[in-house]
Amino acid sequence: MRRDEAVTTGTDPTGDSGLDGARLRRELHDVIGPALTGMAFGLRAARNLVGRDAESAARLLGQLEDELHGALSDLRRITDGGPPGVLAKVGLVEAIRRHAVALSGHVSDSGTPLRIDVQARGNLTVLTLPVKVATYRVVCEALSNMVRHSRARTCHVLLRNEGELNLEVVDDGIGVPGRDADPWCGVGLRSMRARVTELGGRWSIEPGVPVGTRVSATIPLGTG
Ligand SMILES: Nc1ncnc2c1ncn2[C@@H]1O[C@H](COP(=O)(O)OP(=O)(O)OP(=O)(O)O)[C@@H](O)[C@H]1O
Ligand SMILES: [Mg+2]
Repeated sequence: MRRDEAVTTGTDPTGDSGLDGARLRRELHDVIGPALTGMAFGLRAARNLVGRDAESAARLLGQLEDELHGALSDLRRITDGGPPGVLAKVGLVEAIRRHAVALSGHVSDSGTPLRIDVQARGNLTVLTLPVKVATYRVVCEALSNMVRHSRARTCHVLLRNEGELNLEVVDDGIGVPGRDADPWCGVGLRSMRARVTELGGRWSIEPGVPVGTRVSATIPLGTG
């Protein structure tokens, strides 16, 4: 069984089968996880910068503060189901770029700074709000996983409007563990897959070529 198939068929580790409970857990995970991961890695990057480039460190701290305020207002909006405020404020691609800035520049234990490159092709402003929200949440969780688990040096995010929305998050890290790893699947992989399949799309996580991990999804544009 492919890893992504197992995500769908696996049993819920919390035993919570109610849609509302599952949705709430997913929203909390997807808002808090990437925001706190961004804070932790962004603060470390700022600490590394402060002695040699105080201006860049101050800029990064300002961006982290904005991101924290954004996450706080997203938390308040979970109860009314509203979209992430940053999407209305700066748009999908800039929102993802801002999140990537917080995560990149982080210097790994081996001393190598992480580089995250975000590219967009085609007109993404025409996407419906549900497609934008799913894309934003999936990319943020894939980036969180990349910085937390992969030990990657570089990561490429590519968003393409080609009649469907195609997204890819590809890293050059250690790759996903085999299915016998424990635990091999948390809320993050389930959430990414659920967000995409609910919109009629396809999602997968697979080994990168020649190394690393590739998360990809295709979402029809007509959704929403
Ligand atoms: N880019 C990646 N590189 C290496 N391993 C990865 C990557 N993405 C995911 N994984 C592996 O897949 C596992 C499951 O990811 P998932 O997002 O579901 O859970 P998690 O990140 O461990 O916890 P959480 O529920 O908070 O998201 C991770 O624990 C990790 O072992
Ligand atoms: Mg995760």
